Formats: sequence, structure tokens, C-alpha cells
Amino acid sequence: PRTAVVIPAAGRGVRLGRGAPKALRPLGGIPMLVHAVRAVARARTVRLVVVVAPPDGAAAVRTILDEHPLPDSAGATDVVVVTGGATRQESVARGLGVLTDDVDVVLVHDAARPLVPAETVEAVVAAVRDGAPAVVPALPVTDTVKQVASPPGGAAGAPEPVVATPERSLLRAVQTPQGFDRDTLLKAHAQAPAEGEGATDDAGLVERMGVPVVLVPGHEEAFKVTRPLDLVLAEAVLARRRA
Ligand code: CTP
Ligand code: MG
Repeated sequence: PRTAVVIPAAGRGVRLGRGAPKALRPLGGIPMLVHAVRAVARARTVRLVVVVAPPDGAAAVRTILDEHPLPDSAGATDVVVVTGGATRQESVARGLGVLTDDVDVVLVHDAARPLVPAETVEAVVAAVRDGAPAVVPALPVTDTVKQVASPPGGAAGAPEPVVATPERSLLRAVQTPQGFDRDTLLKAHAQAPAEGEGATDDAGLVERMGVPVVLVPGHEEAFKVTRPLDLVLAEAVLARRRA
């Protein structure tokens, strides 16, 4: 039995602004994706990494990965590249499609979370191996969250009526890697609804099947690089690690 990690890296990074696809943007001089691959490969249980590249970028991604080989400490970890789709869900599903039969535990990890500590990865794997079909790293929410009636995109800057304020102490912000029993995740993706009402994470698809999902402690450094300020923070975290 092997543990594999699927890394969706096929997004454009629209919210980050103009430039190369987000996963290929440099962080400390090295593409974000390379950090993400190294971060999961550092976990000793991980033996296979499937990188899901932009539809037109598989060759470029393969070249970048070959230029940045894994350290010997990563052991015998295979890195496979496939191409992604129009949505994150589609990209993950394509990654799942190339898993070998010996894989029984699958993690899904955003390329956009390049600094996740190996301990967080190991904790997720351990919880799945202990019998949980779906495991999600999460942290308490620090901002108070307001619910409104419709998604963003109305008249710019127009005041929005508040619908409700969920109790903050009962909310958690979730991260990746999310870990799954392989068959559970395959089934969840096979039943994923068409784009539009799609879940924004893999565990959300599993929840829809009525399968229990549990949270384990996430890590501050597993934050997602989404907007330009996140890149500033990521560079600072990396500089602190290297100091
Ligand atoms: N992703 C993917 N395929 C897509 C869309 C997203 O593999 N069609 C991946 C991204 O590359 C990223 C992860 O899913 O590693 C999380 O998505 P997000 O942070 O939203 O990245 P982007 O979709 O690239 O960014 P944006 O939404 O700002 O365009
Ligand atoms: Mg996106």
C-alpha cells in the first residue's frame, strides 16, 4: 500500500494578477510548484506525487521539475505529470485517473500552498491510516464572517445587506493536504456535480455522499497564496526559514 499526493497546479492565478500561471511563479527564486512538491515529498510516507499541469503547460512543468530534482531525503518518490481541466475539481479528477493500483491513501494538495510543513502532511496521512475516510487540516477563523445574499460581482463598492453572522467559534478555515481513503475520493469525484454548484474542496464532495469528514490541526504556514499580499508573506516565511 502506498500513499500518493495529487497536486492540482493547473489554475491561472487570476486573483494574483498578470504573469505566468500561479504555480510557476517564483518564490525565493524557485517555482511555487517545486516548493509544494518538495513539501509533500518530505513526508516519509509519500511515495508518489501526481502534478496536474495547465492544459498547455505539461512539457514546461516536466522541464521545471527535472531542473529541480527532489533531495535524497525524499527517498524513492515518483513524480508524474498530467494535464488539468477547466475547474479544480476536473484537474483533481484527472490526477486521480493515473494512480497505480497499489495506492490506498490519497492526499490532495494545492500547488498554491507551497510552505505546508511536513508534520502537517504526516498528521493527515496518519489520521487516514488510523481509519478516517476523509481528513482535513483546519484552523479557527480569526475574522468574524458575515453571510450575504449573493456572490461578489454586483455593482462595485455598492453596500450589501447582511443576512446573518454565524458564530465564529464554530467556524474553521480549511487547508490542504486533505487526505482520503482512495476509493472514497474516487467515488466522490465520480459523483461531482457539473460546474456551478461544485464544492470548493475535495472533502466537500465526500460530505455530499454522507461520509464523515474530520478535521485535524492545520498550520499557519499552510496558507494559500491567492492575492499579491500572500506572495509577500510567503517570501517572508521562506526568508525566516533560511535565516
Ligand atoms: N487549480 C487547478 N485547475 C483549475 C483551477 C485551479 O489545478 N482549473 C489548482 C490551482 O493551480 C491551485 C489550486 O487548484 O493550486 C487552488 O486553486 P486557486 O488557489 O483558486 O488557484 P487558481 O484557480 O489558479 O487562482 P484564481 O482562482 O485566482 O484564478
Ligand atoms: Mg481558483
